[in-house]
Amino acid sequence: MRLNENIRRMVSETTLTPNNLIAPLFVRHGTGVSRPIASMPGHSQLSVDMAVREAETLAEMGIPAVLLFGIPDHKDAVGSENFDPEGIVPQAAYAIKKAVPELIVISDMCCCEYTDHGHCGILNFPGVEGYNQHMPEGYLLNDPTLSILGKASIVHAQAGTDIIAPSGMIDGMIGTIRAALDSAGLINTSIMSYAVKYSSAFYGPFRDAAESPPSFGDRSQYQMDPANRLEALREADLDVAEGADMLMVKPALAYLDIIREVKNRHPLPLAAYQVSGEYSMVKAAAEKDWIDERRVAMETLMSIRRAGADMIITYWAKDAVRWMRGGA
Ligand code: PBG
Repeated sequence: MRLNENIRRMVSETTLTPNNLIAPLFVRHGTGVSRPIASMPGHSQLSVDMAVREAETLAEMGIPAVLLFGIPDHKDAVGSENFDPEGIVPQAAYAIKKAVPELIVISDMCCCEYTDHGHCGILNFPGVEGYNQHMPEGYLLNDPTLSILGKASIVHAQAGTDIIAPSGMIDGMIGTIRAALDSAGLINTSIMSYAVKYSSAFYGPFRDAAESPPSFGDRSQYQMDPANRLEALREADLDVAEGADMLMVKPALAYLDIIREVKNRHPLPLAAYQVSGEYSMVKAAAEKDWIDERRVAMETLMSIRRAGADMIITYWAKDAVRWMRGGA
């Protein structure tokens, strides 16, 4: 059954189409700005006008959705630009929905791009609202962070974001965001939860792209230990119970087993995030001519689909569509 292309097509079990892809975009202030991201060849931080043009191209190519990350002008302890209606992501979401209404806009909902310390929530320091003397200084304050996520989700959704994608691994984030959206009448805004997000070294190049590395420590107090599998199922169960419409596993390639288990357990649409490191390491090896970028990229995308992901967030979104259509 492998003798020629047609028989192979007939027995092929998995498909990959543009419908499966979500393209990440990094937006920053200014006009006419396209600032290449050194660690992620082929990707740039874009000002809103440039992001709109990119969104138009993606939509024309048949890619159904973009995922927005904001690079703010101003960072502070609570990440205020995240819940500022004039903030970079609300501006970009509004402009993109105006220019390309059919394109689905997803907001990555996290504090780390907006906080001066680069962590995914409010940190425990004397004087901070919610300071907890029983906890060491510098630890993430879960519940005070929740109210910020609720507030910011309303702002992003009011600007036109279709899907809020909370990515901070804050306990209770889904329930809080659902309640906040509903209270503001934003009943059709859905939630894609980064339910299972590992504390991964594969995010390295992204922290460059989003200018969001933690200024001290790492994210292992809130992101998951790569050793854990049952914990992933508990995380997914909690988010489903709190009202998640879609789940996500992240990263993808090193966690294909988790993608499969989450998919088998929950009949919800499942996304996988093929993260920056998964992209950049292939790019780097391809630059040295050690591997074939196109074949490796398509093989990994197909593997992630085979593992059970319905949607894949990938920096290869545009290339993959070109390759699917036979382009070089
Ligand atoms: C924000 C966030 C991160 C990524 C997506 N959302 C960074 C992190 O958790 O450190 C990583 C994406 C990538 O590496 O491509 N919390």
